[in-house]
Amino acid sequence: MRKGVLFAGFVIALMVCCGCGPSTRSGGGVEYQKVASGVWNVEVGKPDKVNLLSELEFTPKIDAINAIEEVDLPVDKSEITTEVFDGKTYIRFPLDKEEKIYGLGLNFKSVQQRGRITRLHVDHYGGSDNGRTHAPVPFFVSSKGYGVLINAARYIDVYAGTSVRKDSKNPPKLQNRNTDRDWNPQPYSDNLEFLVPAEGVELVFFAGKNMLDVVRRFNLYNGGGVLPPKWGLGFWQRVPTLYSDKQVEEEVNEFKKRDFPLSVIGLEPGWMTRSYPCTYQWDPRRFPSPDSFVENMSAQGIKVNLWVNPGVAPDCDIASEIEPYTGTHTEWNGMLPDYSMKETKEIMGRHFEKNVISKGVSGFKMDENDGYDSWVAPDVAKYPSGISGEQMRQIYGSLMQSFMTGLYKEKNERTYGLVRAGNAGTTSYPFVIYNDYYNHRDFITALINSSFIGVLWTPEVRASKTSEEWLRRMQTVCFSPLAMLNAWADGTKPWSFTDVERQVKDVMKLRMSLIPYLYTAFARYAFEGIPPVRAMSLEPGFEMEATYDQGVLDSTDNPYKMARRQEMKDQFMVGESLLVAPLFAGETERTVVLPDGKWYDFYTGKLVGESEKITVKPGLDKIPVFVKDGGMIPMYEPMTSIPEGQAPVIVRHYGSKASTFELYDDDGQTYDYEKGAFTWISLSADPASKTGKAIVPEGGKVWSFSDFKFEFMK
Ligand code: GAL
Repeated sequence: MRKGVLFAGFVIALMVCCGCGPSTRSGGGVEYQKVASGVWNVEVGKPDKVNLLSELEFTPKIDAINAIEEVDLPVDKSEITTEVFDGKTYIRFPLDKEEKIYGLGLNFKSVQQRGRITRLHVDHYGGSDNGRTHAPVPFFVSSKGYGVLINAARYIDVYAGTSVRKDSKNPPKLQNRNTDRDWNPQPYSDNLEFLVPAEGVELVFFAGKNMLDVVRRFNLYNGGGVLPPKWGLGFWQRVPTLYSDKQVEEEVNEFKKRDFPLSVIGLEPGWMTRSYPCTYQWDPRRFPSPDSFVENMSAQGIKVNLWVNPGVAPDCDIASEIEPYTGTHTEWNGMLPDYSMKETKEIMGRHFEKNVISKGVSGFKMDENDGYDSWVAPDVAKYPSGISGEQMRQIYGSLMQSFMTGLYKEKNERTYGLVRAGNAGTTSYPFVIYNDYYNHRDFITALINSSFIGVLWTPEVRASKTSEEWLRRMQTVCFSPLAMLNAWADGTKPWSFTDVERQVKDVMKLRMSLIPYLYTAFARYAFEGIPPVRAMSLEPGFEMEATYDQGVLDSTDNPYKMARRQEMKDQFMVGESLLVAPLFAGETERTVVLPDGKWYDFYTGKLVGESEKITVKPGLDKIPVFVKDGGMIPMYEPMTSIPEGQAPVIVRHYGSKASTFELYDDDGQTYDYEKGAFTWISLSADPASKTGKAIVPEGGKVWSFSDFKFEFMK
């Protein structure tokens, strides 16, 4: 039997007691049940009891959704069709000529999804955007201003603008290959179609005046974004897998000696007595006194994060206790706990609390819950709760996130960590996705795509062939949700490439300085659903991505060249007003597309352009960053650790517009903010008179800032 699910219970109660709007029938006789402003729920056939959200604990932020400007669905419902046939659910959405489709999983090579055929399946990313990825979230965002979550924990087939129906209203042009030089091997399609291998499915519709509002509604429905503890936004270093306490201490000292920022040390599998499978118990040879080790780190302002993967070893203390609550198959000989069960959470929770959390460990890197088919549960596995192998594969990472978040929440302590798998419903969980793939450009495309599907991604740095590549990677990770060097395999340090040591240090310190700005960006993710790092096409008014370039028939290269898409895959927004345009190894210049209005160089304050495409040649030292006219960037002085308590803030103002910025503040580490313990400090600056003000609302507490100095960059 499925347990009481906070989420499902909440929505039902809302519909009954708030009478939240009418339901309307249309298209295939389905009913659109309004659950909040601009959000509708549709049930097709007989949906599975287990779906992407049903086993997770979080509370949708309905009030925040209702505060977003209300709009109706911009699509004719009679053109959306659903049908259950042959034990599967068929769903069709109409596509307009210029409509673009985003989302549909954490893709690494493509942003726009129109023209693709995929099967959404949790997996380690294998180098092509075929649907197998760490967060194959079945949520699409249409440029028309709506999005739909296909809420099924199933392997879902997607035909995004590729299938052609006989009854199409906009059929492809009839062509004759004998005579038409522009004969198109991929005929025009006006359908977005899904095939769900289940006899029904829940669909959740989200509307918005633009794509950003659609994404915001989706994120808030999923519980709102993560607000990491402040320390989580500092610099993370993961040490080689078999490091001992002494070696870690030496490494921390080296950071201090060299004046490099450090907030979190990550220990890899060697911290425990056995890994692959795991005991989740400290190895006394390498960590004879874990309590004093963690205490010593904490005395230096450094948090400890521990690697784990799902498989429980036979010599783990709770092995026999947990055995009845594990699946039929193992991962590297480890039993796989069924984290949907109360008993599992109780037993595993007790083990984690006793061995690690009570010692002050700040969080986890939850590895390998994505699985290649030969690891995690194969589809022939079954779980004691009755969840099938396929469903479990789609939600295992989400369940681990929900479980771990719960353990810290119980202590009123925020955590921040890493995970290899997620799906819809994980937006509020404090975990950032990473992987073993290592293409720098593709890492940035993933960063952009994460913003459509309610997950976070880090383009972690591990190694590099050249110092140039090292620096370019460091520059981008410092503008991501989690700034980390993962040296588990080869022990690289930020200063490993001596000829760029200074530049690497500079960008790491810049990351630390930006924490007030970044923390506010995350607060807006939590309260308003705005992704802190986002695709350019989520900038209202930004129009760049063309629908299609017609493929050209070519007898040598590719006689059946498919339509090409022009996509924005290498520049993105961070927070309210920073535009980041990374360079990759081998490049000395690049073009940057500036959205509406005037834009200024972050470092010099100089005007660089206005709603146009520019070419920049930044040199090796700097990653190109631009600021909107009127943009305000509150910053700490460059520092190596996050200040405890109050510290001075410099507010940089760019451009010629007088402007305001709401700066967020709270205790930075507990969940008290959920009960109202936070303050928005109102910053305003006028470049004409060169004056700035910081206004704390009456009775508002200030935790992190001592005084404000305004700097006019222009
Ligand atoms: C990998 C993981 C790496 C590292 C390694 C340790 O699967 O992605 O970052 O943690 O395991 O064995």
